[in-house]
Amino acid sequence: MKKQLEEILGSAAAEIDAAESEQALKAVQVAYLGKKGALTAILRGMGALSAEERPVIGAFANEVRAKIETEIEEKLSRIRASELEERLKNERVDVTLPAHDCKFGRLHPLSQVEKELCDIFVSMGFSVAEGPEVELAYNNFDALNAPADHPSRDFQDTFYINPEVLLRTQTSPVQIRAMKGKQPPIRIISPGRVYRCDEVDGTHSPMFHQLEGLLVDRDVSLGDLKGTLEQFAKLYFGPDTKTRLRPHNFPFTEPSAEVDVSCFVCGGKGCRLCKGEGWIEILGSGMVHPHVLENCGIDPEVYSGFAFGVGLERVVMIKYGIEDMRYLYENDLRFLSQF
Ligand code: DAH
Repeated sequence: MKKQLEEILGSAAAEIDAAESEQALKAVQVAYLGKKGALTAILRGMGALSAEERPVIGAFANEVRAKIETEIEEKLSRIRASELEERLKNERVDVTLPAHDCKFGRLHPLSQVEKELCDIFVSMGFSVAEGPEVELAYNNFDALNAPADHPSRDFQDTFYINPEVLLRTQTSPVQIRAMKGKQPPIRIISPGRVYRCDEVDGTHSPMFHQLEGLLVDRDVSLGDLKGTLEQFAKLYFGPDTKTRLRPHNFPFTEPSAEVDVSCFVCGGKGCRLCKGEGWIEILGSGMVHPHVLENCGIDPEVYSGFAFGVGLERVVMIKYGIEDMRYLYENDLRFLSQF
C-alpha cells in the first residue's frame, strides 16, 4: 500500500506540474483528493490492514495528502501571479500617448448675447428681474394699457391657457411686477422667453427672447432714455455707433419710439446688412404711459419713467450676420460651434 501511495504522490506531482491553468489544477485536485479520488480510495481500503500497519500507513497517507495539497497551493499561486503579470503587460497604459481630445461645450449664441446685454445694463445700475412665462392676461395686456380690443389680444396672436391666463407675448409684464407694491426709484432689466402664435419661418418663431428695461424715478426725461440707449449701443456695437429715435406707437408708452443704430458694418453708407439703409432697427421704447404708472400705484404727477424692449434673436442675427432664425433653434453643432 505504501508503494501505491508513493505512486500516487509521484503522478500527482507530475500532473500538478503540467497543469497550466487554475481549471486544470482544480481537475487534478478532484482526481486525487476528491470524494472519488485516488487517495480517498486508498484511505477507504485501510480497514483491511493489520493493526500494526494501519497507523504507519495512515500517517504516511496523511503526509501524502498534505504534500499534494501544498503542491497544489503553491502551483495555484504561481498560476495566479503569472496571470496577473500577463494582464498587467496587456493593460499597460502608455502615458506618452497624446490625450483623447476633450470637447468643451459653450454657451448658445442667444445666451451669450443675453449675458452681454445684462452685463452692460448692470454696469449702468440696472438689476435683473424675472417674471413667469405663464402670465396673467391682466399683466400682459390690461395693466400695460392695451385695451380689450387691441389687436395683439386677438386669439390668433396669443397662446391663451384660459381667458385670464396666457403665455406672455412680451417681457413687458415684468414692468408691472417690478412696479406693483413698490415706489421708485426702479431700475430693472428682464430677459426671457416670450410666445406668439406665429408660423415658423426665417424671421418668426412661436417662441423667442426679449430683454425688457424699465427705469422710473423723479424727473426722468426722453433725454435719459436716449442717453441710456446710446450708451448701450456704443458699448455693444462699437464706440462710433450713432442712435436715432423714430416715432412709433405702443400702448404702454407715450411718446413711443423705435430705435435704430447706425450700421456697424458700413458705418451708415449702406450695405447688405442694413439693406442699403445705413440704419438697423434694434428695439422699441418710450416714456412709460401715465396709465401704466397709475395701474401700479405710482403717481404720474410725481414720477416718470422710460422703458424699452429688445428682441434678442434680432440682435444675435444682426451681430453675427445670421440670415435665418431657425439656425438658432436647430442645435446643429456645426452652426453652434462657430460662436
Ligand atoms: N413689448 C414690445 C414688443 O414686444 C417691445 C417694447 C416696446 C417694450 C416699447 C417696451 C417699450 O418696454 O417701451 O414689441
